[in-house]
Amino acid sequence: MKVAILDSRKEAADAVANKIKDNGGQAIGVACDVLNKDSVIEAEKIVSETFGDYNILINGAGGNHLDGTTAKEILEIADLENKDENVVTFFDLETKGFEFVFNLNFIGTVIPADGGFMAYSGV
Ligand SMILES: NC(=O)c1ccc[n+]([C@@H]2O[C@H](COP(=O)([O-])OP(=O)(O)OC[C@H]3O[C@@H](n4cnc5c(N)ncnc54)[C@H](O)[C@@H]3O)[C@@H](O)[C@H]2O)c1
Repeated sequence: MKVAILDSRKEAADAVANKIKDNGGQAIGVACDVLNKDSVIEAEKIVSETFGDYNILINGAGGNHLDGTTAKEILEIADLENKDENVVTFFDLETKGFEFVFNLNFIGTVIPADGGFMAYSGV
């Protein structure tokens, strides 16, 4: 399997690609921001020019944001009644935190799938 590792942090992509190469595989690291269609198209060009056709796209880019994350898995009424600034509840979350997490983890899979890597070719 030839493997292209895409990441917004090129050095992180290169580190994984180098591990694969050190173990006898074929791999490249490519800079790519999954939220930027132009960046995805550019990355797809590099991958197809380097390896030719490809068969599998794994959407692994993702992450979280402090403003979109509660301190506890379960909302406890006591945390609403006795406010502690270190305990972030659902009601403390910012929509910009939600937006960041939603965009990265959801839209960040739609753009690579739609924006180049899996564009339907009739095959
Ligand atoms: N690790 C887990 O336990 C777990 C559990 C459930 C879901 N997930 C999800 O699986 C995915 C991968 O998880 P992971 O543990 O490997 O995370 P990770 O943080 O190790 O890897 C995510 C990678 O995405 C890259 N990235 C961030 N923003 C990017 C962008 N805009 N464009 C391109 N690359 C970007 C980061 O640089 C990072 O290398 C994430 O979406 C995560 O939410 C992980």
